[in-house]
Amino acid sequence: MTAVEPRTLAPPERRTVEVVGCEALGAYTVLWAIDRDGPREPRPGQFYMLSTAERWGGGACERPYLPRAFSFARALQEGDGIRLAFLLEEVGPGTERLAQLKPGDGLSLVGPLGVGFRPPREGRRPLLVGGGIGTAPLLCLSDDLEGPAVMLGFRSAAHAAAAALFAAETQLATDDGSAGRHGLVTELLASELDSEAHAEVFACGPPAMLEAVRALCAEREVPAQLAMESGMACGFGACFGCVVPTREGYLRLCVDGPVLEASGLETASAPGGGHQG
Ligand SMILES: Cc1cc2nc3c(=O)[nH]c(=O)nc-3n(C[C@H](O)[C@H](O)[C@H](O)COP(=O)(O)OP(=O)(O)OC[C@H]3O[C@@H](n4cnc5c(N)ncnc54)[C@H](O)[C@@H]3O)c2cc1C
Ligand code: FES
Repeated sequence: MTAVEPRTLAPPERRTVEVVGCEALGAYTVLWAIDRDGPREPRPGQFYMLSTAERWGGGACERPYLPRAFSFARALQEGDGIRLAFLLEEVGPGTERLAQLKPGDGLSLVGPLGVGFRPPREGRRPLLVGGGIGTAPLLCLSDDLEGPAVMLGFRSAAHAAAAALFAAETQLATDDGSAGRHGLVTELLASELDSEAHAEVFACGPPAMLEAVRALCAEREVPAQLAMESGMACGFGACFGCVVPTREGYLRLCVDGPVLEASGLETASAPGGGHQG
């Protein structure tokens, strides 16, 4: 299977950048940092391996030890660098430590890494579909596109607070009905596909959501690009910890993805994330 766009060759070294903001947004945290030495134009869908410059590991169980993968949500040109935003969901020791950062602290990063979203095919309207924290890479993608339809699904209104970050109008669905439509984001996608003859779907979210998106698009022969997740130990192709099955064999998601063409996949629900060191 071919990758959807060429990779950016990031400087291989880890660099420390300055945190300029770290604020709660509903159930999530938005982390801002200024990167003065990295590539100036990361592409939506690419990711960075993050850790804190201080107090990363060394606690009772030594975790977090390895850096963690995060899509960037925004990259704004600022003076001699770029202001990067990451949207975090606290699920374990790495994300908890990152969410404790304060302005002036150091953030260690490597990136941008991987293959991001390719521009929409000629004559097709981009339909963006995000689930939960998978909303993050769709934010910078929606900033770059003209007239996308943006559909977002969350567990609850507290998680749906992330929708306020979008400049484009968004359609919302929540599992508990506390914001937007009571139901799944794929129901919003199905009705949008019913009314849009020439669409291309760009999606990021949990494996079950991506699989539902893949199946809907396959049924209707609509092209789709899926930003997928897998536990990542290195982020640059060395450990093979992130492999996912495709119609043409296994791919390393960190270098051949994380954005893959849906047509190359039997299923988008196979990859999983294990506990990382
Ligand atoms: C390309 C990519 C982009 C990502 N972008 C974001 C982002 O923008 N914002 C964000 O909050 N998170 C993002 N993630 C997920 C993030 O990397 C993990 O949540 C994080 O590594 C968890 O670290 P932890 O130490 O907090 O928790 P851990 O203790 O390592 O994990 C907590 C729980 O989450 C599960 N888990 C961990 N990593 C993954 C994974 N990659 N996929 C599925 N389940 C996992 C574990 O099995 C465990 O149950 C991204 C992952 C990838 C691969
Ligand atoms: S994370 Fe190590 S090869 Fe992909």
